[in-house]
Amino acid sequence: MTPELNDCRFLRAARRQSVDTTPVWIMRQAGRYLPEYRSVRDKVSFLELCKRPDLAAEVTLTAQQALGVDAAILFADLLPILEPMGFQLEYTSGGGPKIHNPIRTSEDLKRVRAGDLDELGFVYDTVRLVRKQLPANIPLLGFAGAPFTLASYAIEGGGSRDFARTKRLMYGCPDLWTGLMQRLVDSVVGYLERQIEAGCQAVQLFDSWAGCLSPADYRQYALPYTKGIFDRLPAHVPAIHFLTGNPALLPLQREAGGSIIGLDWRIDLADAWSRVGLDVAVQGNLDPLVLQADLATLKTQTRAVLDAAGGRPGHIFNLGHGVLPETDPNQVKALVAMVHEMGAARS
Ligand code: CP3
Repeated sequence: MTPELNDCRFLRAARRQSVDTTPVWIMRQAGRYLPEYRSVRDKVSFLELCKRPDLAAEVTLTAQQALGVDAAILFADLLPILEPMGFQLEYTSGGGPKIHNPIRTSEDLKRVRAGDLDELGFVYDTVRLVRKQLPANIPLLGFAGAPFTLASYAIEGGGSRDFARTKRLMYGCPDLWTGLMQRLVDSVVGYLERQIEAGCQAVQLFDSWAGCLSPADYRQYALPYTKGIFDRLPAHVPAIHFLTGNPALLPLQREAGGSIIGLDWRIDLADAWSRVGLDVAVQGNLDPLVLQADLATLKTQTRAVLDAAGGRPGHIFNLGHGVLPETDPNQVKALVAMVHEMGAARS
């Protein structure tokens, strides 16, 4: 890594070193709220876009540049990793992702493989293309889904409100659950290792749906597998552990691993930081809907998040979940400028 990249704002904060101002990036920063994204997406389907390194690199780079954020995130999705594992994936227009052959029985598990991660070569090609063109002081983040969140798609066959099938299988078929989770761990580790080899400076693990679990169930059914991933990733690469919807899980989220804990907005950042421990970095945690409020409210709430972080090294500013499609891109740009301005006064 060049000294310039190694010393950039994002990586310094990730290591809890002092920074000139608070680094900021936005989950789902390359998405439908951006006109630049929509014009590329008008020409190809979502899955095609993920599989075309030239276009995926273009939307990754455009978002970083348009917003002035301190990190780029690889344009891809959580679910294509399921294809080499034997699942048939489709993104329906308007209806979100669909798995045509979800796993429901022990018989189904027989066709689920750990997966040949080289089949996701389009992702690593995107990483190489992006890294070549990114500014020298901007890191590229890779990402993957955490085992519980991926398992929920593999079992439900799509999104879910109550995760009923997932929990029925988890409680009722422990061997099937373990078998699926172990295959997911192996696949995710291989996938993230390849992203890092191709040129990512940090990675984020998204456990978007684990918040539906009680602390005891999270400990039993999710934590060992998430931990299995973080334990196997190279220790020098910052790893963000993002989980949403359930602040009661924070101590367990920390225990499961990651050098940066991703927070949602359901808890005050200062409270969350003390619960996970001040010896770890944190990321977050503005409510994405605040971007749809007036500028004065946006400013007040942004200041409140920065106040809660208290100028302590190790805060990366972000939303508490992905930016919503209805958001005005100018509001996102204004947020980035505010964080940089107000963050400089504190650090
Ligand atoms: O952050 C980024 O800019 C990088 C790209 C990214 C996408 N998805 C692009 C995308 C990332 C990091 C993801 C992660 C992802 N994908 C998650 C976890 C993130 C979270 O918010 O918790 C999940 C649950 C998925 C699965 C997924 N992909 C769903 C449920 C959907 C449909 C819902 C929706 O928002 O449309 C997608 C599609 C998707 N992934 C889009 C984008 C830009 C929209 C597709 C389109 O262009 O039509």
